[in-house]
Amino acid sequence: MESFEKKFNGKLEEVFIYITSKCNLRCPHCYMGDAGNVNMDKNNFKKLLNKLIKLGASKITFLGGEPTLHPFLTEFIEIAKQMGVSYVRLDTNGEFDSKLLNDAAFKKLSDICFSLDGVDAKTHAKIRSVKNYNSIIKNIKKAVTLGYKVRVTMTANSYNFRQIEKVVVKLDKMGVSSLNVHLISANGRAKDNGTLLVKEEDWMDYYNNVLPRLRKYKIKVKIPKRFIKKDESQDYGITCESAKASRLLVTADFKIFACPLLLNTGRNFAFFENGEFHYIKDYRKHSFEYSDIQGPACPILMKDNFIKFANKDIIPLCVSCKQRNYQNNVLIEN
Ligand SMILES: C[S@@+](CC[C@H](N)C(=O)[O-])C[C@H]1O[C@@H](n2cnc3c(N)ncnc32)[C@H](O)[C@@H]1O
Ligand code: SF4
Ligand code: SF4
Repeated sequence: MESFEKKFNGKLEEVFIYITSKCNLRCPHCYMGDAGNVNMDKNNFKKLLNKLIKLGASKITFLGGEPTLHPFLTEFIEIAKQMGVSYVRLDTNGEFDSKLLNDAAFKKLSDICFSLDGVDAKTHAKIRSVKNYNSIIKNIKKAVTLGYKVRVTMTANSYNFRQIEKVVVKLDKMGVSSLNVHLISANGRAKDNGTLLVKEEDWMDYYNNVLPRLRKYKIKVKIPKRFIKKDESQDYGITCESAKASRLLVTADFKIFACPLLLNTGRNFAFFENGEFHYIKDYRKHSFEYSDIQGPACPILMKDNFIKFANKDIIPLCVSCKQRNYQNNVLIEN
């Protein structure tokens, strides 16, 4: 069996570190499920980062839960920069004291990425709250004024997905540099809140309509295609990030996951302990090789999805992978 280090050495680029499982919101779509009570330990964080950098990681994103609740967040940013990580990003729900934006370590962030889920307070509050809408708009404006590179993630759900272009217009005016749209996936709490899910056909229609219009704005927009017609499938190759070994996800309790869709399933394939990476016993079920990803291991291609899509003319695409067909795919950059 190939050792963990050998599998990732020289291939690893990007790591998502879920530094806390605590959260100050309770979003009904959250793929993380119910919030926990674990903050990542500082000493082990340093050891982990050191190892990840040796394997090649140069992009680190801090998230959670809500990462601004971690008492050592600013130290973590500082440590990552001191260790030479070139790109350090924070994903936040924006529910934090604006003074944090004046912190010297915070200012070393390459990007700060806020989660906004609607063009107005009412729509955003379907997921978050009116209070959070006010906090996030205030903090986005302040961050732009202070010269941060500000990004926004919008998770498209059944209430907000037709607002995407309006959100683009709003953020463009506010000086936000990019919008990254997720389409809500039926994981974690979203599984129990089915009315938030978007019908595949509705998403495909909206995507095809809005895509050409999004090119005219200054702001960069990334919007996932997520479904294709069966007869388009020869144009697309699955380039699973998990199979490429270019990305890892680490939770606050140092469990290591290959794919974001596995986070709330307990299907980690490894863990970090005593300064070393260890595979779990049946790690092959939860990590991926190219030979696996067409099969039942990939969360979007698991048996229940096969059944769901068997009688439809469409096929789901990976949630996070870049497809070979960049022209019709998603990346719109001006
Ligand atoms: C898990 S949160 C962690 C960071 C922070 N608490 C926040 O909300 O930005 C990271 C991102 O995942 C998105 N997300 C949560 N559940 C999702 C789901 N079921 N499908 C797609 N994206 C989801 C959130 O909206 C957020 O933009
Ligand atoms: S999406 Fe972010 S803010 Fe909302 S519950 Fe999940 S971790 Fe918390
Ligand atoms: S959804 Fe499937 S194809 Fe995409 S990263 Fe996860 S395992 Fe890979």
